[in-house]
Amino acid sequence: MISLQVNLLTRKVINLSGYSKESGIFMGKITKHMYDTILNHRSIRKYKRDPVDGNILHDILKAATRASTTGNMQVYSIVVSSEQKIKEALWEVHFRQDMVKQAPLVLTFCADFNRFNAWCRLRKAAPGYDNFLSFVTAAIDALLAAQNFVVAAEEHGLGICYLGTTIYNAEKIIEILELPKAVVPVTTLVAGYPAEVPELTDRLPVEAVVHYEKYRDYSAGDIDRLYAEKESLELTAKLLEENKLETLAQIFTDKRYTKKDNVFFSQKYLEVINKQGFMNNLAEDRE
Ligand SMILES: Cc1cc2nc3c(=O)[nH]c(=O)nc-3n(C[C@H](O)[C@H](O)[C@H](O)COP(=O)(O)O)c2cc1C
Repeated sequence: MISLQVNLLTRKVINLSGYSKESGIFMGKITKHMYDTILNHRSIRKYKRDPVDGNILHDILKAATRASTTGNMQVYSIVVSSEQKIKEALWEVHFRQDMVKQAPLVLTFCADFNRFNAWCRLRKAAPGYDNFLSFVTAAIDALLAAQNFVVAAEEHGLGICYLGTTIYNAEKIIEILELPKAVVPVTTLVAGYPAEVPELTDRLPVEAVVHYEKYRDYSAGDIDRLYAEKESLELTAKLLEENKLETLAQIFTDKRYTKKDNVFFSQKYLEVINKQGFMNNLAEDRE
């Protein structure tokens, strides 16, 4: 039996026993309220050397696998890397972002039909999952598992950071992690105990991203209002000064995510998706 005590003032849940026999899940001694955890999310880019206890990691991974999944097929895999040699190889292909070497855990979330296809073939079922739709399906599954991992990890006091560089250099990650056909990396998380507490980053107001009943397109006035806070941040002024640019939007279009880079990496990723066997999109002749 798990024993919980709730402090109503801090809304913190204190787990007194630590281990639930019923669920088989090892819980951290003190877990914060899930909603506070979500609202306090910040990406962590500096980590302590402390390793993550195997029971805690298993608990978090279990939470990841409880995410919704298309048709309950679980068409994804998570590759956990903790060996320094592998982390260094990954660091190289993740544009040498130091947190990859520093964090005790690097987790690569992959769209994966390999296992499901094998199961089908061994059970006299013909898989039809070598197409782009199946890749998107599996990528969605992988991302849902990743975000469940994030929330559970943060509940345990760990920090995380996603690595978008996964889709830029997917072919090299496939080599390093020896991913077979029908497996494509879609995102990576570094995870470990935080060695920094960065400021919370801004978000657009909720009304900016939510539409009730039907989509309501944005007028120029809406855009001005919804982006006003972001544009008036001190950080924005600093970025404009440093980059000698006029608007924050130009930081994105001209510096961070340029069309040239986007097209280059799109082509590379499409090649990977093709090579891994997800681009057979022609309909078979039917009688
Ligand atoms: C798919 C994805 C890829 C990301 N890739 C990187 C990355 O390669 N390097 C990095 O430092 N942060 C990366 N981030 C973190 C974002 O920069 C961060 O989530 C965003 O700035 C908001 O900050 P916050 O997470 O602290 O709230 C990524 C986030 C996502 C969701």
